[in-house]
Amino acid sequence: MNILAVGDVVNESGLRFLRNKLRSLRRMTEADFTVVNGENACGTGILPRQADEILDAGADVITLGNHAFRRGEIKPYLEDCPRILRPLNYAPQVPGRGWAEFDTPFGTVLVVNLIGRCDMDFGPDNPFLAVDRLLKERKAAFTLVDFHAEATSEKLAMGYHLDGRVSALWGTHTHVQTSDGAVFPRGTGYITDLGMTGPAVSVLGVRPEQSVSMFLGNPHVPFTGAPGPAKLECAVFTLDETTGKCTGVRALRIEE
Ligand SMILES: [Fe+2]
Ligand SMILES: [Fe+2]
Repeated sequence: MNILAVGDVVNESGLRFLRNKLRSLRRMTEADFTVVNGENACGTGILPRQADEILDAGADVITLGNHAFRRGEIKPYLEDCPRILRPLNYAPQVPGRGWAEFDTPFGTVLVVNLIGRCDMDFGPDNPFLAVDRLLKERKAAFTLVDFHAEATSEKLAMGYHLDGRVSALWGTHTHVQTSDGAVFPRGTGYITDLGMTGPAVSVLGVRPEQSVSMFLGNPHVPFTGAPGPAKLECAVFTLDETTGKCTGVRALRIEE
C-alpha cells in the first residue's frame, strides 16, 4: 500500500498546482491513500471552499497545524467534515478532531495530526503523551501521523518515540523538504519535513523581498504570496499490507 503525503499547500498558487497535479501524481506514485497539509491555503489558515478544493483534487484527508484557526470560517467545517483534522493535542474545547479512521481495501487507516511545542505559537498539550493515549485506545491496520512542528529534534524524537507503533510519520510546518526519509529500526517510515506546495521562488511561500524586509528589522511588513511558477513537495511511504510497517520512503518534488 502506498501513502502519498503532500507538504503544506500555500496560497492560490499552491491550490492551483495541487488541483492540476494531484490526480496524475497519485497515478504516478500508485498512491492508495493521500494526505495533504492545508494549513496555509489562504496564507495563514484555510477557508471551507479551499478545503473542498483540496478534497476534490484527490486528497483523502487534510491535516492542519498552527494556522488552523486563523480563519474562523473553518470552525463549523472542522466539526462537520470527518476528512479534515486539526492537531490532536489542542485544548479539548477546540472545534474539530485530531484523528480519524478510514476504511480502505487494505484495512483501517488511522490518521493523526499532532503539533509540536518548541517555538510554536502557544502551549498545546504534550504531543508525545497525547499520541500515547490515543494509540492505547485505537488499533488500526495502518497509522499515519502528520507532526506539525518547528524543531528537527522534536520531530526526530517523535519518530523514535513512535517507531514500530505507527506505519509512517512525517513532519510539516517548516516548508523545506529534508533529505532524511528513511525506515526507522522498528519499521516506521519517517521524514523530518515534506516541504511545501506553492510558489517556488519564495521564502516559505512569501514574496522574498517581504521576508528580507522583515529580517532587516522593518516594522509591519505585510506578507503576500509570491508570484511565479509553483512546486509540489511530498513523500511516498510504501507499507507492507500484512504487518502495517513501512518498507520504503521516497521524497519527491514536482516543478512547474
Ligand atoms: Fe505551513
Ligand atoms: Fe505551520
